[in-house]
Amino acid sequence: MDSGAEPQPSPPDEKAWASLGAALFIDTSLSADGKVACATCHPPDAAFTDGKPVSRGVFDRTGTRNVPSLWGLASAREFFWDGRRASLETLMFDPLTTAEEHGMEGEEAVISSVQARYSAEFERLFPGRGATRETVSRVLAAYVRQQVPPPSPFEQFLSGDAQALRPEQRRGFALFTGRAGCARCHPPEGGAFTDGSYHAGEISAALIAKQAGAARELALLDPGARRAAVSARAEVAALGRYVVTLRASDLGRFRTPSLRNVAVTAPYMRDGSVPTLIQAVERELYYRLPEGLQVGDMTPSERSDIVAFLHSLTSPAASTGIGR
Ligand code: HEC
Ligand code: HEC
Repeated sequence: MDSGAEPQPSPPDEKAWASLGAALFIDTSLSADGKVACATCHPPDAAFTDGKPVSRGVFDRTGTRNVPSLWGLASAREFFWDGRRASLETLMFDPLTTAEEHGMEGEEAVISSVQARYSAEFERLFPGRGATRETVSRVLAAYVRQQVPPPSPFEQFLSGDAQALRPEQRRGFALFTGRAGCARCHPPEGGAFTDGSYHAGEISAALIAKQAGAARELALLDPGARRAAVSARAEVAALGRYVVTLRASDLGRFRTPSLRNVAVTAPYMRDGSVPTLIQAVERELYYRLPEGLQVGDMTPSERSDIVAFLHSLTSPAASTGIGR
């Protein structure tokens, strides 16, 4: 096992790490049934998401959350819908050892599987260390960090090409940043359209009934058991940020998702409960309009302008491949 005090490799070679990470990313042998790779849920040719409401892992087990795209995470500071991890490196063994994802029996099992297939590659990149929790995490994180979405029409527009957006998309952008108030939580600055912060939303009535019990029970578990409960139990997943902080004010709060490529990453919301982009925008208008405004204050054509604008956030390479 890693002591955590090993010397840093020198010189760090992110590019070589990322290409080894790419091999691990598509390798189904790192799973309990030999059928699931990172790319099963995060297919690179479909904006790194799977088009399902919630994830499907080994033995067809379902998770509790909608699979986020992995594009543009180099600048993210917290990860997962509840922000329960603070770096790409620390989260990598979560999918590998989660029963509903790769389902490997613990970290040692992952490391020996990696050793069995990639010991030469790891030895070359990390002489004297080989595959460890730390080096496996590093190569996967390097791969993810490299995934930058190709420029969208909106980015071309920002860099001076006025024709890159159709008139309705420009009107939609004005509403998005103006009267509809979307940019309060989905700011365009930085390109990801997320404030990286946590906000309360809608919870289904069926889950509300189970929440209080789940919240009490959760407070007694250690952090590892709490994380495992998120992907196993919908009523725990619905507690949101509370699972991380155990503060009542964080009950049902979720991290604002990026809207880059949102037009090709249906279905929507942390639980995949909203099938189409139009419905997602309607729901956001209903729950999150600035104070004093009601959803009826936006005309149907204004709503469709907002949807048209969101389509301008799609990278050219991402517009195909969905619906698999
Ligand atoms: C069975 C489906 C599945 C597999 C396999 C899977 N993931 Fe995920 N991934 C998810 C889901 C679902 C989430 C969101 C979980 C949550 O928020 O609780 C997620 C979240 C992530 C995130 C955080 C993204 C963000 O915006 O916060 C990263 C990074 C990630 N996965 C990388 C990987 C890597 C690398 C692998 C392979 C080692 C992998 N995943 C395997 C389903 C999967
Ligand atoms: C108060 C903060 C806030 C405001 C204002 C806001 N959003 Fe959101 N948005 C969120 C959060 C948080 C989520 C995730 C909610 C969930 O999963 O339940 C989200 C989810 C979404 C999604 C689904 C994305 C996905 O990948 O699942 C879309 C689309 C969206 N918002 C568009 C908009 C639009 C358009 C507006 C303006 C009308 C808007 N939002 C206003 C915080 C906000």
